[in-house]
Amino acid sequence: MKMMNGQLKFIACVLLLFIHLYDLCYTAEAAFDHQLHTIRFSEGFSHLFGEGNFVPSSDGKGVRLLLDRFSGIYFCSGFISSDLYDHGFFSANIKLPSNYTAGIVVAFYMSNADVFPKTHDELDIEFLGNIKGKAWRFQTNVYGNGSTSRGREERYRLWFDPSKEFHRYSIFWTSTKIMFYVDEVPIREMVRNEEMGGDYPSKPMSLYATIWDASSWATSGGKYKVNYKYAPFISEFNDLVLHGCTVDPIEQLPTPSCFEKTSQLESATYATITPRRRRAMKKFRQKYMYYSYCYDTLRYPIPPPECEIDPSVRNKLMENGRLRFTRRHHSRPRVAGQISGNIHYENQYED
Ligand SMILES: *[C@@H]1O[C@H](CO)[C@@H](O)[C@H](O)[C@H]1NC(C)=O
Ligand SMILES: *[C@@H]1O[C@H](CO)[C@@H](O)[C@H](O)[C@H]1NC(C)=O
Repeated sequence: MKMMNGQLKFIACVLLLFIHLYDLCYTAEAAFDHQLHTIRFSEGFSHLFGEGNFVPSSDGKGVRLLLDRFSGIYFCSGFISSDLYDHGFFSANIKLPSNYTAGIVVAFYMSNADVFPKTHDELDIEFLGNIKGKAWRFQTNVYGNGSTSRGREERYRLWFDPSKEFHRYSIFWTSTKIMFYVDEVPIREMVRNEEMGGDYPSKPMSLYATIWDASSWATSGGKYKVNYKYAPFISEFNDLVLHGCTVDPIEQLPTPSCFEKTSQLESATYATITPRRRRAMKKFRQKYMYYSYCYDTLRYPIPPPECEIDPSVRNKLMENGRLRFTRRHHSRPRVAGQISGNIHYENQYED
């Protein structure tokens, strides 16, 4: 018996050591933050709209975007990258407004709607406002060459409160795949399929961040509006990353540093989904995703060509009855005085 105990202890020790080593490895692999080259705000961005609602941080590394209302008119704000990018890794540490934020959308996205109004491309991360005590919701979306009638939305809950601390949100875009990251977790991967044709974003885009009033649709399909009693709503953006190939806006041609930038991009840690990250992604999608166009058989009886159907995700979405969107329009402020419209799909069952 004594012998057995000794052996058990030994096994337990080995197991503990193993778990410890595993944790260490996990930390080493997970830390892609140190690989990121963050820039000062003024090095890569400029103010887009919302005079007075745009407050640069004193260390120059970030900005605060405010949403407020005076005399019945609401004032949103935003910023834009100074360059257009042909692929890249685009990332920011973001802290969302706290308290009651229903109806407020904070968007971090790539677009070229100003350059190609009819055939624009877009890669979106949009936070959909929140009511205290509930899990925050957000969505990702992809459009290519003006394919706004073929939305590729996915919606998810967050597993933390994004208004408490900064978290890193990233968009990875190459000629072969698109990924969205929340911190170190790849939450969505879209591998280019030739059948997508122009629906795969392939023209240079700018990076944008905006905060605006989307009372009509954002939170529970518009049931909860912005309450200006809680204004100003403040969203903070820090430690921004613009790692990509810049393009001459007139000639639309890649600049000489592009080849180097592209190879750096493809060999970066965030370019590859390791088996561990893939497990984290699968877990996230099973647990926190509550809508994906790939599973919306009413909208797409045949899923779009890039969709890879995961039976466990499909079963879960079916159980929850979260398979249907109804059609609505929404517009997003881009530049002062210019509003561009998008078709937006609203989840009927969202609450
Ligand atoms: C949230 O609301 C509480 C109570 O109204 C207030 O004291 C607090 O300052 C608010 N927090 C923020 C970040 O606005
Ligand atoms: C993009 O759309 C335009 C206008 O509809 C079309 O002429 C063009 O061929 C499309 N490009 C691709 C790559 O599909």
